[in-house]
Amino acid sequence: MSPSVKLRVLREKCQGHARCHALAPELFVLDEFGNAREASAAPLPSEFEDKAFIAQANCPEGAILVDVSREG
Ligand code: F3S
Repeated sequence: MSPSVKLRVLREKCQGHARCHALAPELFVLDEFGNAREASAAPLPSEFEDKAFIAQANCPEGAILVDVSREG
């Protein structure tokens, strides 16, 4: 079974740098303060997985978790 990749923003760490949204607007929604949350809690379509890791690597607060599950 192919791995399932999910994205989560840690609200308590996010400081609104918005790099995640700039790099992957399909995956993040910004609130009125510019803080991000994940656009969906569902496993990502495979074509967006690379973008999730790029966003994670570019968040200066370490507020983005990318969870890879091999259990589907
Ligand atoms: Fe927040 Fe990091 Fe995005 S601080 S707005 S999760 S780049």
